Amino acid sequence: MLQIKRERKIRPYKKRKRIKEKKIELHKKRRKIKDENFFDNQPQLISLLAPEVIQEKQDYIYMGDDKYARIFVLMFYPSYIGIGWLDDILNTIGDVDISTQVQIADERNVIKYLTHKVTKLQSDYLLFEKQGNIEELHKLEENIQSFEEMRRNIQINNDKLFFIKITLRVNATSLKELNEKSKLLRDEFANKSCEIRPLYFKQLDALKETLPLNNNIISDNNRNMTTAGLAAMFPIARTKSSVKEGIYLGRDLFTGLPMNLETFTQGLANANIAIFGVPGSGKSVTVKTIVGRTALINRRAAILDVEGEYVAQTEKLGGRIIKVRQSIPVGINLFDIDIDEDEGFIDIDSKITEIRSIMNGIINKYENRTLKPNEIADIEQAVREVYREKEITKDRDSIYEKEGGKYEGVITFGNIKKKMPTLTDFHRVMKEKIRNKGLTSTISNFLNGNTLGIFDCQSTLKINDQIICFDISEIKDEIMRYYVCLVLTTWITNKYMATKERNKRYVVVDEAWNLFKNKETSDFLENLARRARKKKVAMILATQNLSEMRQSNQAEAIINCCDTIILLKQSIGSIDEIMKFFKLPSGVKEILTKARPGECILIRGGDVRAIKIDMTKFESEFITT
Ligand SMILES: Nc1ncnc2c1ncn2[C@@H]1O[C@H](COP(=O)(O)OP(=O)(O)OP(=O)(O)O)[C@@H](O)[C@H]1O
Ligand SMILES: [Mg+2]
Repeated sequence: MLQIKRERKIRPYKKRKRIKEKKIELHKKRRKIKDENFFDNQPQLISLLAPEVIQEKQDYIYMGDDKYARIFVLMFYPSYIGIGWLDDILNTIGDVDISTQVQIADERNVIKYLTHKVTKLQSDYLLFEKQGNIEELHKLEENIQSFEEMRRNIQINNDKLFFIKITLRVNATSLKELNEKSKLLRDEFANKSCEIRPLYFKQLDALKETLPLNNNIISDNNRNMTTAGLAAMFPIARTKSSVKEGIYLGRDLFTGLPMNLETFTQGLANANIAIFGVPGSGKSVTVKTIVGRTALINRRAAILDVEGEYVAQTEKLGGRIIKVRQSIPVGINLFDIDIDEDEGFIDIDSKITEIRSIMNGIINKYENRTLKPNEIADIEQAVREVYREKEITKDRDSIYEKEGGKYEGVITFGNIKKKMPTLTDFHRVMKEKIRNKGLTSTISNFLNGNTLGIFDCQSTLKINDQIICFDISEIKDEIMRYYVCLVLTTWITNKYMATKERNKRYVVVDEAWNLFKNKETSDFLENLARRARKKKVAMILATQNLSEMRQSNQAEAIINCCDTIILLKQSIGSIDEIMKFFKLPSGVKEILTKARPGECILIRGGDVRAIKIDMTKFESEFITT
């Protein structure tokens, strides 16, 4: 067989090396192309961040999908500004981004400039003095002093001069909203003796300047500022670390500075506090912290305790616990009446209104209807009759026994209160004298001896305990719970709040959604919120979320009467509603959705702060659940 042996071509070494290197290069190139193609198919970070469109208009920018922005520059500001001077502007307007560009000025030029300025002012001074223009003299004198002081401070390295430019970007979802916000922003700045102007025909460049990229595109509009002025531009640093009065609440989440809480202050329209937060966010702990610490400064509290979770604290603080149970009278008599301290007489007409509204509530629950006109008239007649039987009239002395007697072991004349009529008397009058069969049979369910007969008794409950806790946790039946809430809220309004007290008091309603379910109890909250301040009372209301509360028509009126709002952790589902409702700055959203128990946003008047509410070890033993 013929074998053809192919001779192997032997290339010189150098040639082989070159070919190998070429191959490697080609391989690398191919890999690179492959890699590039792979990454080309991925969405880039920039496409996630960039707006869908950027259209520059004369004085605003349209960025697609209902996004509008207008950029302003700060033209004039007052000579003296303090730390936090921009806070209330941000809090009022909401979504505004402020960018401050800072450049340090060359010291030699600054000294030269200041010397020139002082000389010019001094020559003006001499000129005005010669002309006899004394009006301007003291202003010039002040300016000379201030510039000289600045020059001295810079010379001895105590201060520096900066060029700063402040641009503000107002964001909105519609052009209308943008115009409204812009007007508000201009007004707010005008109130602070400042002037801002939109950057006409430069909106796109201005937009780039508001981004945190240190773009300095528009070179004019720089202003001079010293170190102290510059420090006032930082949004987090605050000197107003805390209110001095009131109670210690916690620490500022950013600066760690201690924060006090006082809502009975002239700066606020009312002392009420509303607390919102998801379950477990720390609502009840916050309420207990406030109640416990204010008790130390002699404030009182009446608590409507749906879950029985305030009992331990009330016990620890030596308060009174009223455990409301079926069939057991609790010492509140619906027909107890006192002298109205404001009016100076016995106000039977108000009592009629009170009983009528309780009866209306009962009928509503039992028969799903409201009182008929003849029933309203019958109730009025019956209430008047039960007081007539006891000879109680408008006259303030008529609630006392005529003769003296022994009262709490002491012989007393003239101030022993008469035995008051009760629901049993009312029922008897309705049945025998007025002969209203329908109402009579419904009312009989509420007489002493029946499960619902807990308010058919003489009053024994005193209002002078520092803390009164109505524990209604054992009342599970819907109608009964409603009746109990109705009577207790009436008692709080007409008895607890009506007495003249030197000490400030709180009415605490935790799990407030229980009261929002019914018109009458929502009315109570609204009435409480509106009237509280006059009576030196503050309502503390806690509920899980805003939408739950907004089921009641009165919700907005009630929240508007709460000048202090504490927002604990919010759910993703409700955060947008909360942000919109309270007009919060956008940075707050993340804090609220990620807050740990006790971390909150405190809105006090227009002031917004992030706080961690602190508990001491001693407190945590009886206030955590
Ligand atoms: N300020 C705080 N510091 C530390 N832990 C806290 C704080 N507030 C609450 N917690 C913790 O969170 C738990 C739940 O708090 P709390 O009972 O107040 O929640 P809540 O919002 O009232 O919930 P719910 O809606 O279920 O009543 C507490 O038992 C405690 O362990
Ligand atoms: Mg709770």
